[in-house]
Amino acid sequence: MAGEHNVPDLESQIRAWQATTALVYTMSLHCAVELGIPDIVNEAPATPLRVSRIAAALRSTGPPPDASVLHRLMRFLAHKGVFAECLDPTTGEPAYAPTLISRWFSRRSELSLASVVLLQKWGFQASPWHDLAERAVLRRRGSKHGKQDLWAITAAEPEYSAAFNAAMVGMSSIAMRAVTAVYKSGFEEIRTLVDVGGGTGAVLKAITELCPSVRGINFDLPHVVAAAPECPRVEHVGGSMFDGIPAGDAIFMKLVLLCFDDKDCLRILKNCQKVIQQKSGKLIIVDNRGGRVGDRQRRLSGRHEENI
Ligand SMILES: C[S@@+](CC[C@H](N)C(=O)[O-])C[C@H]1O[C@@H](n2cnc3c(N)ncnc32)[C@H](O)[C@@H]1O
Repeated sequence: MAGEHNVPDLESQIRAWQATTALVYTMSLHCAVELGIPDIVNEAPATPLRVSRIAAALRSTGPPPDASVLHRLMRFLAHKGVFAECLDPTTGEPAYAPTLISRWFSRRSELSLASVVLLQKWGFQASPWHDLAERAVLRRRGSKHGKQDLWAITAAEPEYSAAFNAAMVGMSSIAMRAVTAVYKSGFEEIRTLVDVGGGTGAVLKAITELCPSVRGINFDLPHVVAAAPECPRVEHVGGSMFDGIPAGDAIFMKLVLLCFDDKDCLRILKNCQKVIQQKSGKLIIVDNRGGRVGDRQRRLSGRHEENI
């Protein structure tokens, strides 16, 4: 017993502390992205940047930051590998440089997770986690946050809806690079492609830009398509996929089925079946896929988190 908590146990204790305080990482990252720090560090003409330089950049667009807190924030994110920390050769002060990870958090990067990080500030996004045991695992009715209908919330809260849609656009830009790299020829033979639950149309924009012969119908809830930007050869149609789906040669669905239980997925798939040609029609589904335990790609991809 005496040996149980001595040096060999330090590694597990450190990992236990990291798990206990994991929220600090997510919210510190959120803070940095909200302030635009990854953009400041990534776009600096000469790096590494001392904290005083980062503070000056923040001061140029807002109130003066607390340099001591900013220093601790940068040190923590460097410890996590988001930034690289070194010592400024002239002053000996810590200075920060971009890393491959920090580039994913630049708001101005073409491929960026910044909009996904920014979604964390919304209570609608964070509050269900406080009630995971009661609400999801034990399925107790009347638990503090109840079963939330995410789509009713996005309909009632336009600002949250805009943040949610922006996060979907951010994720789609990344995913569609990978999808079109392996499946361009699959899209080229389609005349009308219907994206069911297509959000504000980022997926169809990527496909129609790549395949000029394809016309798209972006189908989503009315309040979502009302906020969708115009896009050549893409028509936005509002409605519910439980009532019916516009017809096309092929239907595309990305990150949609995982939002619903099996019963609702069957209703959606039956509605898809009604509108696609039995022999020549196509249903293209892009979703999270369960991998084998220990699968390296799956461990790296963080899909376990998304599945919860
Ligand atoms: C997780 S998002 C995925 C968005 C998009 N497919 C993407 O990958 O970026 C799910 C989408 O389904 C839409 N949705 C939810 N219920 C719907 C319904 N009944 N009919 C049509 N769209 C719906 C939501 O508004 C949201 O845009």
